[in-house]
Amino acid sequence: MMNKLKVITSTTREGRKGASIGKWITDLSKNIEGFEVELIDLGELNLPMMNEPNHPRLGQYQYEYTKKWRENITESDAFIIVLAEYNYGFPAPIKNAIDYLFNEWKYKPVGIVSYGGVSGGLRATQMLKQVVTTLNMMPLSEQVNIPFFTNYMNEKGNFKGDEKLNNSAINMMQHLYKWSTTMKKMRETM
Ligand SMILES: Cc1cc2nc3c(=O)[nH]c(=O)nc-3n(C[C@H](O)[C@H](O)[C@H](O)COP(=O)(O)O)c2cc1C
Repeated sequence: MMNKLKVITSTTREGRKGASIGKWITDLSKNIEGFEVELIDLGELNLPMMNEPNHPRLGQYQYEYTKKWRENITESDAFIIVLAEYNYGFPAPIKNAIDYLFNEWKYKPVGIVSYGGVSGGLRATQMLKQVVTTLNMMPLSEQVNIPFFTNYMNEKGNFKGDEKLNNSAINMMQHLYKWSTTMKKMRETM
């Protein structure tokens, strides 16, 4: 079964490293048969701060950028969020991008690739799990946490995982594929 996987970054600042880590995981996902993958860099998506007048649960979106975002997420079967940690929490842009929509996220699995200093983004990961379960998403217990992530970046700013990191990412994506297939069938019967 072909499942659509969207890799979504979490940061928008100039010089963000998330895009490079997103590219690494996107390239690696090509090892998983059955995933059709797209990388969404929130810095390029450039959503304003959530300004829709109605509760997203109603799906009555006013703005073109929200409608486009809805289409993008509606067609998805699985997500990987490439998560930075800002001040022991998750960065505001990913919360903003999530908050725009509601039912579009429902019954879809999400894997988390977090990065940071000594914590590897674990605190941000735990906070994000609380949010995504509110939307009826399934956060995987298999996750990739990258401490001191700059050790994996070359002078050109490209991220390259070592064998251990690549294997843990592939393991997470294999589970993600299983969940996405099961949850797709579940959505079809609802
Ligand atoms: C506002 C801000 C707060 C940060 N807070 C943390 C933190 O709590 N924990 C951590 O491990 N790194 C923290 N860092 C360092 C980030 O891990 C590092 O800057 C990383 O590159 C951020 O991701 P980005 O480049 O995609 O924005 C912080 C960075 C910024 C800009």
